Amino acid sequence: MKLVRPDDRGRFGDYGGRFAPETLMPALDELERAFEKAWSDPAFVQRYHDLLTSYVGRPTPQHVAGRLSEQLGLTVILKREDLAHTGAHKINNAMGQGLLVGEMGKRRLIAETGAGQHGVATATAAAYFGLECAIYMGEKDIERQRLNVYRMRLLGAEVIPVTSGAGTLKDATNEAMREWVRSVEYTHYTIGSVVGPHPFPWIVREFQKVIGEESIVQLGGTLPDVVVACVGGGSNAAGMFYPYLDLDVELVGVEAGGLGIETGKHGASIGAGSPGVLHGSRTYMLQDADGQVIEAHSVSAGLDYPGVGPEHSYFADQGMARYESVTDAEALDAVDLLARTEGIIPAIESAHAIAWVARERASLAGKTVLVNLSGRGDKDVEQIAQIRGLL
Ligand SMILES: Cc1ncc(COP(=O)(O)O)c(C=O)c1O
Repeated sequence: MKLVRPDDRGRFGDYGGRFAPETLMPALDELERAFEKAWSDPAFVQRYHDLLTSYVGRPTPQHVAGRLSEQLGLTVILKREDLAHTGAHKINNAMGQGLLVGEMGKRRLIAETGAGQHGVATATAAAYFGLECAIYMGEKDIERQRLNVYRMRLLGAEVIPVTSGAGTLKDATNEAMREWVRSVEYTHYTIGSVVGPHPFPWIVREFQKVIGEESIVQLGGTLPDVVVACVGGGSNAAGMFYPYLDLDVELVGVEAGGLGIETGKHGASIGAGSPGVLHGSRTYMLQDADGQVIEAHSVSAGLDYPGVGPEHSYFADQGMARYESVTDAEALDAVDLLARTEGIIPAIESAHAIAWVARERASLAGKTVLVNLSGRGDKDVEQIAQIRGLL
């Protein structure tokens, strides 16, 4: 059953909730109240959609990938979130939360980022709304996503390197949450995916569901057989899937298979994880027998996360969506495939969705597959060139 909003305890079935320090509870309550009021106010919703049109560049196009379709023997339609301002779907959520902060009277935004796209989106929203901004980013991600670090600094944000743990998204999230406890009176934590304590997973899904809503309108009465999206925390997938949940369409989320599930070095939280508590909510996560978080691994910084949004855990258990994984190598091959057949260099995150379609082409033969192309690959070009020995 599709849940319009999580229950009174902020849960999607057995998942979600609010596992947060006492000091944050008033801020989470305040955020829930502010969002509830704003989202039921037609004037606020109109302001959000006006911003998406005039500033973000929505609706993003939906493009039939002709040469790719021919090569794979099926019809691939791409939802072009890569063409949104700042180059990924993350901007939908950042502008929504930025607008909400105006209603709450706070003066500063903080955020975590992995691939840097959410950091860039938050820095953009902060510049647009005239707010201070600090972005927490793992040092490994700073190294592999240097371009986005420069972009955030150009936009006036402070980028704070996080050296703990593996220096990736989980560690940046820990640090941002700690900082939020310290500065909660004047700071809003702009969580970048459908993760974290209630009400974040709900808010982020609501701000991202525009992707699927637009897509249905653009299809003009026909439906694809399968809808595919990559899953890190799960925001682009949630935004794409949510409006399709009531329709007769198969939904497939593609997690990071990293070096292969059997190696233990991956980011497949649903495929190879189990329920536990991570970053304030109960969800599928990578953990050992003692409940300690196992480090994720993915070539893509945006999927290098040992958890997933609680609503996806619910979808998985209910059989409302299916979760698969592809390896780093398959994703990198898919970057080449899309670049050379369509002239589109995808983000490595998005290439995971393409890679699954390419691998499954025999079982998908003749079908229509809609892929959410969550972002563009400009940020990844240097990393790919290094991996390929071109730099
Ligand atoms: C282009 C792109 N796609 C996907 C993701 C993964 O995030 P999510 O699963 O929340 O969409 C990221 C995260 O940084 C990203 O930059």
